[in-house]
Formats: sequence, structure tokens, C-alpha cells
Amino acid sequence: MKLLLFGGAGFIGTNIVREALSRGHGVVVFDNLERKGVDRNLSFFSSEKWLTFIKGDIRNEKDLGKIPTNIDCIINLAANPSVPRSIIDPLYDFQINVVGHLTVLEYARKNGNIPVILASSNKVYTDKLNTYQLVETATRYRFRDKRLVHGVDETADVDGWDGFTNSPYGVAKLAAEKYSREYWRHYGVPVVINRMGCVYGEFQKGVEEQGWVDWFLRAKRGGHTLTIYGDGKQVRDVLFGADVARLYIDEAEKMSTLSGATFNVGGGTRPGYHTSLLELIGLIDDMFPGKKLVLRYAPWRSSDQRVYLSDIRRVTRATGWKPTTRIKRGLRRMWEAYERYGE
Ligand SMILES: NC(=O)c1ccc[n+]([C@@H]2O[C@H](COP(=O)([O-])OP(=O)(O)OC[C@H]3O[C@@H](n4cnc5c(N)ncnc54)[C@H](O)[C@@H]3O)[C@@H](O)[C@H]2O)c1
Repeated sequence: MKLLLFGGAGFIGTNIVREALSRGHGVVVFDNLERKGVDRNLSFFSSEKWLTFIKGDIRNEKDLGKIPTNIDCIINLAANPSVPRSIIDPLYDFQINVVGHLTVLEYARKNGNIPVILASSNKVYTDKLNTYQLVETATRYRFRDKRLVHGVDETADVDGWDGFTNSPYGVAKLAAEKYSREYWRHYGVPVVINRMGCVYGEFQKGVEEQGWVDWFLRAKRGGHTLTIYGDGKQVRDVLFGADVARLYIDEAEKMSTLSGATFNVGGGTRPGYHTSLLELIGLIDDMFPGKKLVLRYAPWRSSDQRVYLSDIRRVTRATGWKPTTRIKRGLRRMWEAYERYGE
């Protein structure tokens, strides 16, 4: 297959490129290199003859004209990936995450209905999630409700009709999802939507407002103080980049049977695939040498979810995919990657 990855120089994109090349697929990476440091990701593949790089912006139709023909599947990862940035500058977020994605869908339609996989987010769910009853322990919150034993599924609230909100980023991702389904319904463009939770791993350029696992590890290496917003007991499932990359390529290979599907994609609820901030800090201090992490506390971020665990049974049933990298192994691989390639 020939895959086209918008935003393919970024963190998840680079993991997908590595997986695609290892399975013998050709890859076109289209990226405007807006994210600081991602040009270094491309250098890992400099000797790869099956990879083509195009510098371009998904908002610019002229740039899309540079793409070679015979693309079999598109994966759109190009985005503003940051919730705080979307709050500071919602128009910028809208232009990339909605208008940019719509431009990608139009490109797919005009070029023979190329299948499109959208990197969406669990931020499409409103903060109604914060009304779920919780149990507080020494290091984390847990769902009290036994119906959430498998995590949050795809039927959780997205529209907020009873007064709940997302964030400009969550709203934009939801709009991109809805446009994707319209292109599937009206024009027959095959689409799959992955609502991802927290993804971490090699090639990530974590900053404080996005990519927190990588940011915490970098704080350990650099010896800087970590700011914890809230009490640090908030819990997330975490999914390793190489694991999510396997899913995207599995989906690209099976688009004809998956088209129209929307999946929650995350580490899930099995032990070793979720953590609270405090637990992760303890784990990092136990696993790696150096001074213990120093913490500073700040007020909760607005709409921060106390617990988010993805129910991944739907995607597993449809594709057979499951994550296989537990947090400890993922952290170890990241540490080794910093040592080998630098930060
Ligand atoms: N990392 C996560 O935990 C996570 C979770 C949920 C959803 N997502 C989504 O997955 C996708 C990839 O995330 P990531 O973590 O790899 O982010 P990233 O910032 O590392 O990658 C995004 C890439 O898109 C490029 N880009 C940005 N604007 C562009 C534009 N206008 N035109 C072309 N390229 C552009 C950037 O240069 C960057 O290389 C995003 O859509 C993000 O919203 C990520």
C-alpha cells in the first residue's frame, strides 16, 4: 500500500511511519513542521527509499497539489494537539483541526474516494464525565460505578445539552468527526475515527500542556520542578506509541470492513496500562537514577477529568488489536531512546 500521513513527522506519525515501513508499505509524509523538534524525527528515515517527504500545510490546497498519485489510504494526524492552546487561540485551533481536516476530506473525495483515518480524541466527551461517582485512595481516584469497570465507552456524552462543555479542541475534533461521517454517507469516502486517550512514547516532544508522560520523564532527566495541577490523583490510561501505530496500520489494511466506525483507543483498564500522576512520579523515581522529582502544586485545570479510562472492547472486537506494552516497559524504551538519540 501507499499511505499518506498528514502530520506524519510528529510523535504518533513517526511511530506509524516506522510500523508501515516495517510491513513493507510505502509512505508519504506531509507536514508543515510546525511542531518544534519534529524535523529531527524525519532524520531517522533519511536513508529510506520508501518514504517521501512533502513540506506543506493541510489548510493550503496548493500544497496538497504536490502529493503524488495512487495513494491507498490517508491518516490525518496534523492538528493543534493542545487543549490549553485551543483555549488561548480557538480560531487557530478551528482552522487546523476543522478547516484543515475538511480540506483533507475534500482532497480524498476529489481523488477517487481515498479512505481516511482521523486521529480524534477522548476530549470529544464533555465534562459530564466528572459527575461519575469516584472513590479516593491515597494515590488515585477510581470510578465507583461498577458499570464503568471496562472504562468509558463510545456512548458517553458529547453534546453537552444539559450544560456540560468540552474545550475548543474537543469541539473541533467532534466537528472533524462529524464531517468525516458526512463524507462517508454522502460521497462514499471510507472513514475510520480513533478517539485516542493519552499516548506516550519514543519520538514524543512533550511540553507541559501536551505529552505529560514524556514531560515528566524529561523533568527527571533535566532535574526541573514539575507543576501538578490539582492533587495529582487524576488517573489516565496510557497507550504506547508503537502499540497505537500497529492499530493504524491494521485499520489501513482492513478499511473495507471497518468503514464508518468510531473507536475509543487507549491503554484500557488492564493493570499496567493506567496510572495516576502521583503513581507515575513514584514509578519514575524508582526506575531511573538521579534526584527525586520535585513537585509544585497549582489549582486544577478547568474541565480536567478526574478519571479517564478507555473502554477499548469495541476496537478490539472489530480489529483484534490490543495494546501489549505496559507502562514500565514503555518508560524503559523511552529512556533508552533518549540515551541513544539524545533529547
Ligand atoms: N498524543 C496524544 O496523546 C494524542 C491523544 C489524542 C489525540 N491525539 C491526536 O493525534 C494527532 C497526532 O498527535 P501527536 O501527539 O503526534 O502530535 P504532534 O504535534 O507530535 O504531531 C502533529 C504533527 O502535525 C503537524 N502539523 C500541525 N499543523 C499542521 C498543518 N497545518 N499542516 C501540516 N502539518 C501540521 C506538526 O508539525 C506535527 O508534526 C493529533 O491530531 C492529536 O490531536 C494525540
